[in-house]
Amino acid sequence: MSLTFERTLNPAPATAEERAAILAKPAFGSVFTDHMAVIDYSEEKGWHSARIVPYGPIQLDPSACVLHYGQEIFEGLKAYKNANGEVGVFRPEANAERLRKSADRLMMADLPEELFIQAVKELVEVESEWIPTGDGESLYLRPFMIATEAFLGIRPAKTFSFYVIASPAGNYFGGELRPVKIWVERAYARAGRGGTGSAKCGGNYAASLKPQVLAAEKGCDQVLYLDPLNDNAIEELGGMNVFLVVDGNTLVTPALSGSILEGITRSSILTLARERGLTVEERKVTIDEYRELAASGRLSEVFACGTAAVITPIGALYDGDEVIGSPDAPAGEVTLALREQLLGIQTGAVEDTHGWVTRIK
Ligand SMILES: Cc1ncc(COP(=O)(O)O)c(C=O)c1O
Repeated sequence: MSLTFERTLNPAPATAEERAAILAKPAFGSVFTDHMAVIDYSEEKGWHSARIVPYGPIQLDPSACVLHYGQEIFEGLKAYKNANGEVGVFRPEANAERLRKSADRLMMADLPEELFIQAVKELVEVESEWIPTGDGESLYLRPFMIATEAFLGIRPAKTFSFYVIASPAGNYFGGELRPVKIWVERAYARAGRGGTGSAKCGGNYAASLKPQVLAAEKGCDQVLYLDPLNDNAIEELGGMNVFLVVDGNTLVTPALSGSILEGITRSSILTLARERGLTVEERKVTIDEYRELAASGRLSEVFACGTAAVITPIGALYDGDEVIGSPDAPAGEVTLALREQLLGIQTGAVEDTHGWVTRIK
């Protein structure tokens, strides 16, 4: 299924000078481009009214379902411009599929993969001048869907809108690649058994804000969540999956449990690691095993991964008063090699043998 996107260009876009100043030092998620993609859904018309319009406020009825019951899902992916000025988006079909799964869990409209990719392509095409080209820089794309039906009552909405907005992005954690400090969260969970942990819905992130703020007060960058049932196995960070490198040759990551988000970076790393001849294990990793591996010296590297930060080394875990690992541990060999390869594929510096990059122009 495809739709024709009607284009209404922004009458007052950023000037070339303003854009150049922003692109010279892109932050993360604070500046948005001149346009957005929109598609509406109703039961009668299905997906309709596809359009590119000036970026700006969305008008909603105060009783719109999203404002009361949180029917909202989103995605995150990046467009890169290579040295020849060609633009590519990394694995948009995987994001489209994950959005469909999230929509199913939250009883929202099913957006066909083709429409998702079309909306992304249309927006990136219009905004290609907004893609920064510095090391690791990209245009971060944020597709999201909201329930727009005006009603109060607990049932799935009947009308939805899907949007894609874009923001020039630099390094997620700011500045140079440095090991991050992780707080082991024992009081709060972001997801529960049978909950929405494996869906990418706004509510999960709302639940993660309090632990994130408390962790930051203790000097940590991110929160590590433990399995919500037994509190003894590591799951993921608030916005990233986690990998351990054991004995320098085995890559271990928590198995998908239903409360972990299946990261597209995670799945890409699993593929690349297997091809590199690393042993790959998707399994349960308890915090006790983590501690023992660290104490015995077998835990050679730990890193976090996700679209925003790509691959970031983890220095130490802070579990109450206990510090596991070293906060200054430099990024390890496997971490750096995988990061370089993945970023290389994304930016076009390394051959894309998996067909992961969708060319826009
Ligand atoms: C909770 C959570 N886990 C993991 C990830 C990593 O997923 P991806 O690699 O698809 O960005 C994200 C980011 O989207 C996330 O929000």
